Amino acid sequence: MCGIVGIVGHTPVAPLIVDALKRLEYRGYDSAGVATIEQGHLARRRAEGKLVNLERRLGEEPLGGLIGIGHTRWATHGVPNETNAHPHFAEDVAIVHNGIIENFAELREELSNEGFAFASQTDTEVVAHLIARELRAGKAPGDAAFAALKRLRGAFALAIMFRGDEDLIVGARNGPPLAVGHGDGEMYLGSDAIALAPFTNAITYLEDGDWVVVRRSGIEIFDMDGAPVARQRQQSIGTSMMVDKGNHRHFMEKEIHEQPEVISHTLAHYLDFSAGTVGNFDLPFDFAGIERMAISACGTAYLAGLISKYWFERYARLPVDIDIASEFRYREMPLPKNSAALFVSQSGETADTLASLRYCRSAGVPIGAIVNVRESTIARESDGIFPTLAGPEIGVASTKAFTCQLSVLASLALKAAKARGTISAEQERDFVRQLSEAPRYAAQALKLSERIEAVARELSHVRHVLYLGRDTSYPLAMEGALKLKEISYIHAEGYAAGELKHGPIALIDEQMPVIVIAPYDRIFEKTVSNMQEVAARGGRIILITDREGAAKATLKTLETIVMPDVPEFVAPIAYALPVQLLAYHTAVIMGTDVDQPRNLAKSVTVE
Ligand code: AGP
Repeated sequence: MCGIVGIVGHTPVAPLIVDALKRLEYRGYDSAGVATIEQGHLARRRAEGKLVNLERRLGEEPLGGLIGIGHTRWATHGVPNETNAHPHFAEDVAIVHNGIIENFAELREELSNEGFAFASQTDTEVVAHLIARELRAGKAPGDAAFAALKRLRGAFALAIMFRGDEDLIVGARNGPPLAVGHGDGEMYLGSDAIALAPFTNAITYLEDGDWVVVRRSGIEIFDMDGAPVARQRQQSIGTSMMVDKGNHRHFMEKEIHEQPEVISHTLAHYLDFSAGTVGNFDLPFDFAGIERMAISACGTAYLAGLISKYWFERYARLPVDIDIASEFRYREMPLPKNSAALFVSQSGETADTLASLRYCRSAGVPIGAIVNVRESTIARESDGIFPTLAGPEIGVASTKAFTCQLSVLASLALKAAKARGTISAEQERDFVRQLSEAPRYAAQALKLSERIEAVARELSHVRHVLYLGRDTSYPLAMEGALKLKEISYIHAEGYAAGELKHGPIALIDEQMPVIVIAPYDRIFEKTVSNMQEVAARGGRIILITDREGAAKATLKTLETIVMPDVPEFVAPIAYALPVQLLAYHTAVIMGTDVDQPRNLAKSVTVE
């Protein structure tokens, strides 16, 4: 996802903008640039690749100016190179953009037919020319920007600068987030509060459809009809948490090791450990009164939701319909009146998840959101917010957010079971006690890191891996596969162990390690049969189990990772750590960019 920064300042802004862009690196990008108004003219430096390349350009050719905009680009239209890097210019207009202009082709054709010449392959440049055309027609800069915005279809966050007005940046938001930072005689624009942290924590978040006129003296916000609107100015909590790697090599490693702490923070927010009860959720619906619940999310967040389906149905007897958000949003799922919807998202900005939420809202269904960013769009558009207290998650591969999502979902499942009378007070106390021990299980799992690193050496030589699991270990098998492929680039698939004989077993040979996630439980023996099917065909098994499972798995495995004994209910939270560590160590051995894997963004705010 792209990053945007703008400053209307009173000191040279170029180095400040680059520093702010560094705080957005976690979002994933492939080029960067900065533009200022220098001695009355638009000027810019852009570079392919990482920000260090842009800094080198600026060192060779410094950029003056007290007003500027900057951008880290995650390519959607046009290859990642300097020509396509933002900011883009058109006559007196400079612009940076996050999102996708869906009607850019027809607009580009319209403008080309009028003689406008394009220098890049991007959709963004079309917006610059649209504004330039309005300026030619005599409109003032703000009005020109507004007129152009009304022609756009799609998702965009924009920051626009105008030669001739060194006290004006226009911002606009329709989808991807955009925030205004309030300074002392300076004003800022940024994709999120983390980018603006070095300058201020007084933040105003724009809503969808807002556009804003930013001057040193202050801001004016308007809606898409041009009417002035007021948006709350708030103290952003996100900015107070400095994000750095500490003594870890990567943010991902740090975040994996933060899990015992953040899982306990999250559970403590929802459970009363001393009373052995589930605490108060600010529920927008009554679990006792609903007949079904829809859950939708993407990627790792979806897999957390899929694990919770087992919990809601097993312990609360509540039927759950779950789907990945990119399918959910177009499936037109019938939503009975007495149903509810739950959305899971670390960033709270994922476009597909947000669109699915809006589908449910249009059907009048009460909506709960499990998010890691309280000020996010998904949070703001929900009726009930259930925050994960994971702290900023910078590594693109989600780890601590996942186990915190599971912690919230497990607590919610207990809340539902209690409300629906499907568990006794004694059972509630027992489940709460089990969850209270999840941080300790996570800490014990972390002690296996060196052992897992040795196993990772086996994986670093292969091109394909199969993960197997049953019951709540099945979504975990998919999560393990997702972790491995997204950071090591090794192809991996997660499968229900019982499905092996329905096709995937054709893949098994000594070149394809099979990772089996199987704590000793009531269906363990079934999984042992699957492992025997693999072994009989020369497959190499890496088994992640506990002491009893290791004893009962009467077959030769390539490796066995023995976890602490964990109650079935809590196993998905604890067993997430070995699969995260396995992916992490494999990626480190392979030398990939662990925190910012190729082609990926931390939050996908476009379709
Ligand atoms: C997970 O490691 C990936 N980074 C990705 O699948 C992610 O979970 C997905 O894009 C959803 O993001 P969200 O939780 O911010 O909505």
